[in-house]
Amino acid sequence: MLQITTISKNDFFEIKATEVKRNVDSNVIYLIKNVIDRDVIKFIREEIEEWTLNEEQRWVPLDENCVNFHRINDDYEKSYVKTKAHTFYYNLWLKESEPIKNYFLEIFDFKRQITNFANLDYLHNKPIDGFVSRVIVHHYPIGGGYMEEHTDPVNIYNPVQTIIQASEKGKDYISGGLFVRDPESNEEIFVDDDFRIGDMIVFNPHIPHGVKPIDKNKETDWKVKKGRYLIIPLSLRSDLIKNNEESPKGISYDNRN
Ligand SMILES: [Fe+2]
Repeated sequence: MLQITTISKNDFFEIKATEVKRNVDSNVIYLIKNVIDRDVIKFIREEIEEWTLNEEQRWVPLDENCVNFHRINDDYEKSYVKTKAHTFYYNLWLKESEPIKNYFLEIFDFKRQITNFANLDYLHNKPIDGFVSRVIVHHYPIGGGYMEEHTDPVNIYNPVQTIIQASEKGKDYISGGLFVRDPESNEEIFVDDDFRIGDMIVFNPHIPHGVKPIDKNKETDWKVKKGRYLIIPLSLRSDLIKNNEESPKGISYDNRN
């Protein structure tokens, strides 16, 4: 059975990282309250808003020339995981990402303790080093923004999944949202009702999860500042040593290929 444990930020960071990892491996899900300040979330949302106005959306490969960018994926059929979302990519090795990086140091430090991998320099690595760290912001617009059910790869760079809630259910959106599937009962468990702005959930990336369509009966408008926002600090391989086996894949992927 999946077990969701609600815990304060202080109590969570007092637990030994290795113990957290052990519990997460046996499918404990941590819901940690108030990890990121509401003002920080507000700042990030305003910044991506401005970014959208000032710069065209596009895709940029994760190689030595990679810059910060944002991209709209509107059900693109070749995606590993089908999605309708606007995503913002902050590359942490870039000078301009410094302000963002500083808000997530504790979380990266926690991940570093879990991996215990000496060469892992989360915050400075460049694509040429093989893996890098990013802060990714997803915006699922009202009018059906979603991400299909999928699992994520577990590897030394990303031992646990960390997702931060950056919107308010009931205000930014009414229906849909993040769910996880209990591997034993096969039941979908919706987490958004107790998942408030600034909270973080930590779980085993092997647990199937996704985002159910947000306010799907409304009209989609990518510019509207409503919808579901989430922030994911993570590390991943760069495209310079890409291994497709390590990409997340949606449940429909094998049937499409
Ligand atoms: Fe995921």
